[in-house]
Amino acid sequence: MKSFVILISGRGSNMRSLLEAELPGRCAAVISNRPDAAGLDFARARGVATAVIDHKTYPDRDAFDAALGAEIERHAPDLVLLAGFMRILGNAFVERFVGRMLNIHPSLLPAFPGLDTHAAALRTGVRIHGCTVHFVTPTLDAGPIVVQAAVPVQPGDDPARLAARVLEQEHLIYPAAALWLLDGRLRLEDGRVRLDGEAAVASALCVPDVAWPTPRS
Ligand code: GRF
Repeated sequence: MKSFVILISGRGSNMRSLLEAELPGRCAAVISNRPDAAGLDFARARGVATAVIDHKTYPDRDAFDAALGAEIERHAPDLVLLAGFMRILGNAFVERFVGRMLNIHPSLLPAFPGLDTHAAALRTGVRIHGCTVHFVTPTLDAGPIVVQAAVPVQPGDDPARLAARVLEQEHLIYPAAALWLLDGRLRLEDGRVRLDGEAAVASALCVPDVAWPTPRS
């Protein structure tokens, strides 16, 4: 059976959706860069091994990346799933896991990379926001896109309200992408995403719940 490691930094709701999805693979460990990440308790309660590689205790990014890489390799996972992992990883680290490492990002990439995506979406006035699962490559939030879910922006949305609706979609698309990568339907070939079968169709999840105006309305 294949195995995966999940990296978190905080709440861990995406981690939870991955653990609860009963994926065809074993979660070998949940690793956090923050000792106080709430998600660690949930993982422990499920009997999943946990580890903390606290970035504050390393002199620089290279040292942190090396320690994190060593902890991951100890479990020899097939996949690495970044789930709300808030550290930027260096190129050498990323290259080691290219094609085997996914991330979930709370926007429809390539719009709004980086932080505070919901506030940025509201400021910009986009009507459709959402979330993206992508392969991790050295450029932040720029790796090949696997699956996206669209979330209509509603009148009266503030960043928290919009984030909550986007998060619901994150919890659907991340386990789906992890499933495809584990069962071989998804792979990275020559830098491009290859998705076999019905999964490719299902990856378009945009269902805006909007009453479109008709000529008479
Ligand atoms: C999620 O919105 C994720 O997309 C982003 O950070 C948030 C983490 O939430 N990268 P959680 O820790 O998974 O609950």
